[in-house]
Amino acid sequence: MMHMPTKRSLTILVTGGAGFVGSHLCDALLAEGHTVTCLDSFLTGSRANIAPLMNHPRFTLVDADICDDYIHHGHLDRIYNLACAASPARYQADPIHTMMTCVQGTLQLLALAERNGARFLQASTSEVYGDPEEHPQHEAYHGNVSCIGPRACYDEGKRAAETLSFDMHRQGRVDARVARIFNTYGPRMQRDDGRIVSNLIVQALSGQDLTIHGTGRQTRSFCYVSDLVRGLQSLMELRPNPGQPVNLGNPDEYQILELAEQVLAMTGSRSSLSFKPLPQDDPRRRRPDISAAERLLGWRPGVPLHQGLQATIEYFQMQLDVTPPRRRRHPTGPSEDWLHHPGAAE
Ligand SMILES: NC(=O)c1ccc[n+]([C@@H]2O[C@H](COP(=O)([O-])OP(=O)(O)OC[C@H]3O[C@@H](n4cnc5c(N)ncnc54)[C@H](O)[C@@H]3O)[C@@H](O)[C@H]2O)c1
Repeated sequence: MMHMPTKRSLTILVTGGAGFVGSHLCDALLAEGHTVTCLDSFLTGSRANIAPLMNHPRFTLVDADICDDYIHHGHLDRIYNLACAASPARYQADPIHTMMTCVQGTLQLLALAERNGARFLQASTSEVYGDPEEHPQHEAYHGNVSCIGPRACYDEGKRAAETLSFDMHRQGRVDARVARIFNTYGPRMQRDDGRIVSNLIVQALSGQDLTIHGTGRQTRSFCYVSDLVRGLQSLMELRPNPGQPVNLGNPDEYQILELAEQVLAMTGSRSSLSFKPLPQDDPRRRRPDISAAERLLGWRPGVPLHQGLQATIEYFQMQLDVTPPRRRRHPTGPSEDWLHHPGAAE
């Protein structure tokens, strides 16, 4: 189902709006006529991601950390909380700040939502399921998470952020919603933060060996960023509040080896595979059960992997300034249009 834009022009705060997902969300909200404040500390985000928006009359940037006090001047209708480093390398670099971003930062934003009577959406993660013992992961599954491992600052932080959101909602203080986001990829991912899709593409394009952790037989599902943004907006605008977290991700499951082979074929790279040990607490399987999103939002992803990969490869070719090798284009292969959200800066 298409996301149906709200007719009213809303005033919206997007925290983490200069990041990979957040910048695409800002594009989409501006394109629908809303007024957007992007709040970001630039911990992992980039000014380049929002550069095209800086002169937009309905766009404001606030350079701030959600853990610090933030006074918003004017009324807010919606708050999307996406602020948090998302790649293991980045969120483990300062684990206490990651935890505080999820707990203290989220609580401050919930309080801001309460003062404004604003609807609130928390970007949670499939990591709340940890190394899952149930497959695929349904929202009712409580997860298998270590609270003391190196990933705990993020996994437990996001679990606490969900708890705060649901407590505020149960107390009737904030209309809070929680999206459990599964692996998402696309243009504007950072080239060097160790996430699997960007890592493999950058290595393939620069002629390095492709790093595969473990045997490469572990699985992931990959959602293209425009599909995710549509899902986040649908969840925010759903009435009434669904009263449960909602998984957003692509249920097509691939082994990491299959992904690597596809990247090699699509980039025309002659790189080899380089096998490294599996990181601690790395989940073996990951696939969302999206029946709740289908039932509640009429949402399911529409961009197949080869199309999303094509757009992402083209983006990194531009970033790395490499000439595309001659390759067989997919018959429905995208062009540079895919690099931009349909509603990028007016
Ligand atoms: N991309 C995915 O596959 C994925 C999967 C699950 C969940 N998520 C969640 O979605 C959100 C966005 O992820 P992303 O992939 O765009 O990551 P990202 O790192 O590109 O974006 C996060 C943004 O938050 C900002 N930020 C971090 N801590 C902050 C703080 N304390 N105060 C203010 N700004 C802060 C960063 O500078 C960055 O711009 C995150 O909350 C992440 O946990 C993403």
